[in-house]
Amino acid sequence: MNEDTTNTNQDNGAEQVTAAAESPSDYFKVDDIHAYYGESYIVQGVSLNLRENEILALLGRNGAGKTSTLKTIARADEPTLRKGTITLGGQTVHDKKGFEASQMGIQLVPEDRRIIPGMTVEENIILAQVAEPIGWPLERIYQHFPRLAERRKQEGTTLSGGEQQMLAVARALARDIKLLLLDEPYEGLAPVIVHEIERILLEIKAEGITSIIVEQNAVAALKLADRAVILDTGEVVFSGSAEEVLNDEALRLKYLAI
Ligand SMILES: Nc1ncnc2c1ncn2[C@@H]1O[C@H](COP(=O)(O)OP(=O)(O)O)[C@@H](O)[C@H]1O
Ligand SMILES: [Mg+2]
Repeated sequence: MNEDTTNTNQDNGAEQVTAAAESPSDYFKVDDIHAYYGESYIVQGVSLNLRENEILALLGRNGAGKTSTLKTIARADEPTLRKGTITLGGQTVHDKKGFEASQMGIQLVPEDRRIIPGMTVEENIILAQVAEPIGWPLERIYQHFPRLAERRKQEGTTLSGGEQQMLAVARALARDIKLLLLDEPYEGLAPVIVHEIERILLEIKAEGITSIIVEQNAVAALKLADRAVILDTGEVVFSGSAEEVLNDEALRLKYLAI
């Protein structure tokens, strides 16, 4: 056994306990969450944990509970969390409401993207900045999203699907974001646009933001991700590195049908 030569504190046991409690992989931690729509028991004891600026691919078949898990984390009104804990950077999330989770830096980009009709690209972004805490300024957003910069005066709902997805992500960045939750960001998009969004997500990661990506295009999500969790009927059936899933054909066939 190696002796810890740097630690001059007599109370070694206590030091170790503190270090374990603040392990970097606990930056974002979901521990045994159970969530319901009315009496329908959907999220059945999901746990996951992430280091700061890691990307997690949350995968599984249709109806596995991926969207419900993201909504529970974002503290949407439904599904209702009845048991379990969620923490971000040492702060509790499970006891917060949706607007409080948003103020803490948790931003969900839903599958339908929710671009506000009758508003330009820029107005959609500015609207995200009406309340504190504010995130990236417009110019910084436009540096990462040149397509949005070109279309800043265009009505948001007239953008292509891929551009609307970029706008939805840009709006999340306009808030002071720590955890980005993406629900099927590549859905219906051409490969060239998927690549552009991948580039943006890697840039966001480099800026220190932690992300969870739910995708039917599991291979694309796994190539981007550090870690992977697979859900089946509301339970975790795999948790490990993204690479393990890419290399495990039997696992992919069983739960992802790829
Ligand atoms: N609003 C709702 N009310 C009742 N059941 C729901 C609701 N939304 C989703 N469900 C059910 O929860 C399960 C998981 O759905 P969901 O989280 O959307 O799965 P996924 O995103 O993995 O496709 C499904 O059986 C679905 O029918
Ligand atoms: Mg879904």
